[in-house]
Amino acid sequence: MKLNIAVLPGDGIGPEVTAQAVKALKAIAVEFNHIFTFETGLVGAAAIEKTGDPLPEETIRICENADAILFGAIGDTKYDNDPNAEIRPEQGLLGIRKVLDLYTNIRPVIAYEDLLNKSSLKKKQIKDTNILIYRELTSGIYFGEKKMGDDKASDICEYTRFEIERIAHLAFKAAQSRKHKLALVDKSNVLASSRLWRKVVQELAPQYPDVKLDCLYIDNAAMELIINPRQFDVILTENMFGDILSEEASVIVGSIGLLASASTGDKHAMFEPIHGAYTKAANKGIANPIASILSAAMLLDHFELHEEADLIRDGVDKSLKLHITTPDLNTKYEHITTTKVGDFIEDFINNPDETNLN
Ligand code: IPM
Repeated sequence: MKLNIAVLPGDGIGPEVTAQAVKALKAIAVEFNHIFTFETGLVGAAAIEKTGDPLPEETIRICENADAILFGAIGDTKYDNDPNAEIRPEQGLLGIRKVLDLYTNIRPVIAYEDLLNKSSLKKKQIKDTNILIYRELTSGIYFGEKKMGDDKASDICEYTRFEIERIAHLAFKAAQSRKHKLALVDKSNVLASSRLWRKVVQELAPQYPDVKLDCLYIDNAAMELIINPRQFDVILTENMFGDILSEEASVIVGSIGLLASASTGDKHAMFEPIHGAYTKAANKGIANPIASILSAAMLLDHFELHEEADLIRDGVDKSLKLHITTPDLNTKYEHITTTKVGDFIEDFINNPDETNLN
């Protein structure tokens, strides 16, 4: 298969982790006789520094022409501490999501057997957790009208039936291919936008009689996710609740450096770790590349290259089993750098039966 992949490394640890994912994809291309080409674009703080714009036209062009996008990370502490900054790195990421209409964000949360003791939660509580979070990505409070004054500020949370229906259908279908359970997370006891979510999703439910729909309030869901994560199969929620819940869910997995995601629309698809730019870890070789590498596996799945995606995931499993991991997870070996993890997975792809730490 021929794939033209746009690579947007972004800020902080983004370039380091993305380089490892690209390495894995290049190894896959060789092993399976695919032709993957890569075109790099600027986004975020890196783009502001060079062009003054967090999402330059050139980057949009690269993404629009690509079959898929591999995204690194975005953000810079310099902007975090300046509430008055009108141009912000995050506008780059939000802009791509909007321009390409990437309305469905899929975030798998899987408790790896080999990492159960890395979580601060109890092993028996998290064992066998396997959740798919469907987060709406192009609407809600992130994109509603914003007003910022000295004494008053507001963000509007708006949803249309169309925006809810299109992702809800996908979430129901995902549940049909899994354990047939869908949990809608909202705040419909307080918010009108949440009431529309609940109404629309309940109206669609009869089309999926083999899926059991539960509706939970976000505050309760946040607690249930920690107390008994195994009860969840597919979670469907709006933009901001999905952002918060998925970051919370990373506690189950042991490190936010492991969570990958796919952001898809009807025409385009982007793959990115859920973690941020982690600026203070940049260029130290300590950033965990696995979320980015697993995002590359999701990219392959998107094109039905499942055998290829599984090979990457097997490499990740083996690296975790052998403790070839960055310091966020490792207690066994010192000096396992970002690149070393990437090299290990690349070697595994080239030679799955003989790869060991060297
Ligand atoms: C994420 C991030 C982004 C979001 C930020 C960087 C804008 O937290 O992808 O989860 O809030 O969506």
